[in-house]
Amino acid sequence: DIYAWRKRPSYTYQRHPLLSRRISQACRDRLVRTPTVIAMCGLPARGKTYISKKLARYLQWIGIKTKVFNVGEYRRVAVKFYADKDFFDPDNAEALAVRNQCAQQALEDMCSYLSDDGEVAIFDATNTTRERRRCIYEYCSQTFCFRVFFVESICDSSDIVNLNIREVKLKSPDYKDVPQEEAVTDFLSRIQQYEKRYETIDDTTERNYSFIKIFNCGERFLVHKIGGHIQSRVVYFLMNIHILPRTIYLTRHGESTLNQDLRIGGDSSLSANGKLYGEALAQYMENESIPDLIVWTSQMQRTIQTAAKINAPKEQWKALNEINAGICEGLTYMEIAERFPDELAARDQSKFYYRYPGGESYQDLVARLEPVIMELERAENVLVVCHQAVARCILGYFLNKDADDLPYTKVPLHTVIKLTPMAYGCLMECIPLHINAVNTHRRKPKNCRPDRTAHEALNDFLVTPLDPKPVLRTKSEIFYNSDGTRIKTTDVDGNRIQRNDSTSTDPGLNNICSLVHDLQ
Ligand code: ADP
Ligand code: F6P
Ligand code: PEP
Repeated sequence: DIYAWRKRPSYTYQRHPLLSRRISQACRDRLVRTPTVIAMCGLPARGKTYISKKLARYLQWIGIKTKVFNVGEYRRVAVKFYADKDFFDPDNAEALAVRNQCAQQALEDMCSYLSDDGEVAIFDATNTTRERRRCIYEYCSQTFCFRVFFVESICDSSDIVNLNIREVKLKSPDYKDVPQEEAVTDFLSRIQQYEKRYETIDDTTERNYSFIKIFNCGERFLVHKIGGHIQSRVVYFLMNIHILPRTIYLTRHGESTLNQDLRIGGDSSLSANGKLYGEALAQYMENESIPDLIVWTSQMQRTIQTAAKINAPKEQWKALNEINAGICEGLTYMEIAERFPDELAARDQSKFYYRYPGGESYQDLVARLEPVIMELERAENVLVVCHQAVARCILGYFLNKDADDLPYTKVPLHTVIKLTPMAYGCLMECIPLHINAVNTHRRKPKNCRPDRTAHEALNDFLVTPLDPKPVLRTKSEIFYNSDGTRIKTTDVDGNRIQRNDSTSTDPGLNNICSLVHDLQ
């Protein structure tokens, strides 16, 4: 029985605190935090995995616990060697049984994840038949009382589909050691196999479902029966993203006079080195000659002054202002350690969630920056001139950083960070412009207890106002895929000087490139 999962007892259903007793659907729909299943739908190479990963990254960043369940990965575990497109023939009963079993396993894992503490689960599979969708809906909604939202991607542009196949499918483990053209032909036939039984979501027979249909990468949308705030946010996000090639440049302001004194916060002007950085940055952007570049700054003097010489339209965002350090504004870390040892210890114990008295936390900053991220998704080429904590939050979104790592991301002064969205993720390049600046990065100390001395609290952070050793002398930066393969190095002008092709065949590994170079 290929749909056996429908008949399974709901043994995990009791575990979710919200679902401790059987509740009516009407009541479930009024609960704000009811777990949500987002089930993808569409032929192969329609961006389902791309959308799943991107959506998960966004939801995680805004603090919603989210996980993707990709049925293709379950299938690759069940069937070690993919032979060819015949595996996806809907008349191939044996293969169909395996595929349905994989879907069942993924569905079960997904529901037990949501029954624990997951808030959103994304079911990344083709789900191209009405019967498959009915099973998902019944299992998730009736057995488990979760909300279900279908996201269908429809694309009839053969140019886009062909591009997608070349961009991601050729790197799939399914085509390891298969010559490129052979792989393209097989994948196109695989799509044809699915087309035999493809039923688009039907708004009469499937009108009870909540769904969105995305046509041709967002040219048009059809939104049906949205339920709850998570689905509204998902719809809003999906309506803002695009796949046009572009580059996002990110930099902190030039060194300020308060930076020079190692004081946090305030609204000071640029130091002499900071002004030099403003000039170097304008020259760098000129050399990049980016069409239709837009520059965003905060409303603080130091970012406005840094961007002043750049020849491009500029906009100021209050949301880009630096974290408000409340009672600690204008102090050095040493002064904070001496005057407010308990506060500094509390911050060191939980930097992302700690809120300065009268000020903000990184968590607050993420909420404040959400509209900026949404506009960044809509935008094309942009340079964002901002601040240390703000840049960490923006990078946290693009590089999928968790709450523990995000507030410790190294974002040195006088360095341009170039983000290029690609495949399922984003390539990050870091280009130091070689103008001296103080170090403002304070590592997490080993001792985070409130009874430590001020010197212990400062760890190895500079306690003298001026850094005796110049920083940022590195000629080039090295970037690694998450599997450790080197993919790119850049020289001071940002020119690519070396590329090692990744030996990995998993396109997911292109996902995140992390800066591994210690700049100090
Ligand atoms: P699928 O999971 O549907 O087989 P993928 O997610 O692996 O397809 O395809 C990735 C490619 O899809 C990326 O190159 C991305 O640019 C592209 N893409 C993203 N969104 C869409 C969309 N709405 N329609 C078609 N292609 C898209
Ligand atoms: O030191 C520069 C600065 O931008 C301060 O204004 C801000 O309080 C600080 O960095 C944020 O960094 P952290 O969260 O590591 O203290
Ligand atoms: C797959 O096996 O790659 C897959 C997407 O599975 P399904 O079509 O069964 O969802």
